Amino acid sequence: MQTIIEPFRIKSVEPIRMTTHQEREAILKAAHYNLFALSAEDVLIDLLTDSGTGAMSSEQWAAVMRGDESYAGSASWGRFEAAVKATFGFEFVIPTHQGRAAERILFSVMCKEGDVVPNNTHFDTTRANVEYQGARAVDLVIPEGKVPEAIHPFKGNMDTGALEELIAEVGTERIPLIMITITNNSMGGQPVSMANIREVAAIAHEHGIPFYFDACRFAENAFFIKLREEGYEDSSVREIVTEMFAFADGCTMSAKKDGLANIGGFLCTNDAALAQQEKDLLILTEGFPTYGGLAGRDLEAIAVGLEEVLHEDYLEYRLASTRYLGEHIARQGVPIVQPPGGHAIYIDARAMLPHIPPLQFPGQALACELYLEAGIRSTEIGSVMFGKTEPDSGEELPADMELVRLAIPRRAYTQSHVDYVVEAIINVFERRQDIRGLKLTWQAPYLRHFTARFEQV
Ligand SMILES: Cc1ncc(COP(=O)(O)O)c(C=O)c1O
Repeated sequence: MQTIIEPFRIKSVEPIRMTTHQEREAILKAAHYNLFALSAEDVLIDLLTDSGTGAMSSEQWAAVMRGDESYAGSASWGRFEAAVKATFGFEFVIPTHQGRAAERILFSVMCKEGDVVPNNTHFDTTRANVEYQGARAVDLVIPEGKVPEAIHPFKGNMDTGALEELIAEVGTERIPLIMITITNNSMGGQPVSMANIREVAAIAHEHGIPFYFDACRFAENAFFIKLREEGYEDSSVREIVTEMFAFADGCTMSAKKDGLANIGGFLCTNDAALAQQEKDLLILTEGFPTYGGLAGRDLEAIAVGLEEVLHEDYLEYRLASTRYLGEHIARQGVPIVQPPGGHAIYIDARAMLPHIPPLQFPGQALACELYLEAGIRSTEIGSVMFGKTEPDSGEELPADMELVRLAIPRRAYTQSHVDYVVEAIINVFERRQDIRGLKLTWQAPYLRHFTARFEQV
């Protein structure tokens, strides 16, 4: 059968409010052309993020009812800890309210001013948390990973030659850890191969540097390995995950992605002394180490989610549905990051809108246009998110790429919603010459994309 079907049926529905083009024009202006400022009720198809926006299963809702809300040592914590250990194999598990809390604790404990942290590509919160410690976040993705149209099965791989050079240049004592983000969200949701993981871990360990995963989309990455890497076609996804994580000394995780939960995260390590320091910090801001800012019912939902996310029928549908969206728009000429990633399709706004200069934010302009056209909310991953101000001259520098991300919430939308998105993108593509750029009118000092304001040029 060619037709993609969801490997689940729907038990509970949530209405979508329809809006007109005219209404959306007024809404967008009032939001200062920043889609983060929209009320979700004004959005028809919300592809802003795949983070915390998925639908939970009947088993997860059943587990929620089992939630034990005891302050210390709850049964829900026991089930959560067991599920995390069974999936990832680390000795110490530190629960947090979401991924960035795990990052803040990890980098507060491991990094100091002047340190350097290599990653294939830092996600924005990861970069911000590294830089907040006075350390430098260095992205070392392979060259193909930076070329949107380049086809490579594992475009998220780290450039191991560049990693060796960096270590030689700054010295091991200034590199507190090496991290790999699976899948590589900021560069197209592209996977990392087992061979690359093995090689990076070997380099790290040869220099006595701990090796960590940003594990948000570990299951999608593992399924890509099964589909694309020689020797893994007959392995189960669980076996692949076990092998991947055996190379690492720890991980940060946002359970809002492949934890199939609406909130939650955790930090793992095999180092007892480090775990103690992390727990001390956890108590200060997140909570007692057996709940870490989460309700018992959230811990339960994550424990079940970590098991369900490894179901291969689900992963097959998940990647096929994302690929369907990418292939259908690419076939009409829309430039996308190739090949389609796991959780999202990324439109190359620089290639689609060459008449808009990078500092007039083509990605942001395109995201606004998709909202106007069909009420679709996407997000810019370009010069709004990653542009920089040169410290000496004050000059604005654009990002390497101008992408618009259409992130697909897990198990929330149907294939007919995907067809609607395809149609809307093609409509906008056909009138791309008429799209105008944007001018920044206000920005915050950190993570400016969440609150920046714009007006049309
Ligand atoms: C790769 C990656 N790392 C870290 C995070 C941060 O997780 P959270 O949003 O739960 O704080 C995200 C969230 O989108 C992510 O995609």
